[in-house]
Amino acid sequence: MAKAVKTIGVLTSGGDAPGMNAAIRAVVRTAIHEGLKVKGIMRGYAGLLQEEIVDMGSTSVSDIIHRGGTILYTARCMEFMTPEGQEQGAEICRKHGIDGIVVIGGDGSFRGAGKLAALGINTIGVPGTIDLDVACSDYTIGFDTAVNTAMVAIDKVRDTSTSHERCSIIEVMGRKAGYIALWCGFANGAEDILLPERYDGDEQMLINRIIDNRKRGKKHNIIINAEGIGHSASMARRIEAATGIETRATILGHMQRGGTPTCKDRVYASIMGSKAALLLAAGKSNRVVAYRHGEYMDLDIQEALSMKKDIPEDQYEIEKMLVR
Ligand code: ADP
Ligand code: F6P
Repeated sequence: MAKAVKTIGVLTSGGDAPGMNAAIRAVVRTAIHEGLKVKGIMRGYAGLLQEEIVDMGSTSVSDIIHRGGTILYTARCMEFMTPEGQEQGAEICRKHGIDGIVVIGGDGSFRGAGKLAALGINTIGVPGTIDLDVACSDYTIGFDTAVNTAMVAIDKVRDTSTSHERCSIIEVMGRKAGYIALWCGFANGAEDILLPERYDGDEQMLINRIIDNRKRGKKHNIIINAEGIGHSASMARRIEAATGIETRATILGHMQRGGTPTCKDRVYASIMGSKAALLLAAGKSNRVVAYRHGEYMDLDIQEALSMKKDIPEDQYEIEKMLVR
């Protein structure tokens, strides 16, 4: 039996991602279109527990679609991982008349959303993370912008790497996932990619390839190292010692999480945000909006969280083939 929802909240949680603002805008405007009231919950679950809750209207989301970050701010909140924190969160929702929430974030945020749903607050998750590591969805808000930002930065490092005939280890974000590294491997024509899902720690193989590349006349040697492997600086020192080739490490860091969202991130985030608000308006709860096999859909949160995804083996093999 669908529960009638009159007022919904929206929050962003976990790491921010370019395109989150487009999603917030879509949630707010769709909900208003459906006759619902909307409240913005600041700073994710932390802001919920602190009752940082503001009324939102159509104009509160004007002039944000092109901006990186999230106007609602974001946070990670340990307190919300406890049953007491979750019960308090649900109680605060009831106090403020919030009977549905759109949670924009990654798997961790969806776990929190599932807990709120079990406590009677209708919840819908929207995948927002630059890491692309939400198993139920082929797309997550912010990934497209982040890989484009990383690609442009890596091109610049490549210029100086070529001039100095150096080896460069460039570390990209992704937490435990290697999607950003894989995509930059393709897009930047890197000589090597090190993905947490595949790297076996065989540094001698890496060194042999660098030496071989130099013998074949390659001027630079770009290695994209995923954050999940890390240790780029010490790796650079060992490579330089073993090969005699000057080696530098560059950690791209948080620059990958900011900046103007790409067209794709704005459009997909808008559609997903809108679909999330429509699901709440239809009385649905405990769902995640996903993009799978070329279609938008929604799945049960627990089902979504039980899914697994991995780097596609064929893509990994093709990437390696193209750099030889
Ligand atoms: P992401 O949503 O990007 O995966 P995190 O894993 O950091 O990011 O999770 C964001 C927040 O979601 C956490 O700080 C916490 O408040 C909440 N969260 C994560 N896991 C749980 C859980 N098992 N139960 C309740 N809330 C959780
Ligand atoms: O999940 C997004 C992400 O940027 C990861 O790629 C990275 O591991 C993490 O967040 C960094 O978190 P923080 O901003 O807390 O340093």
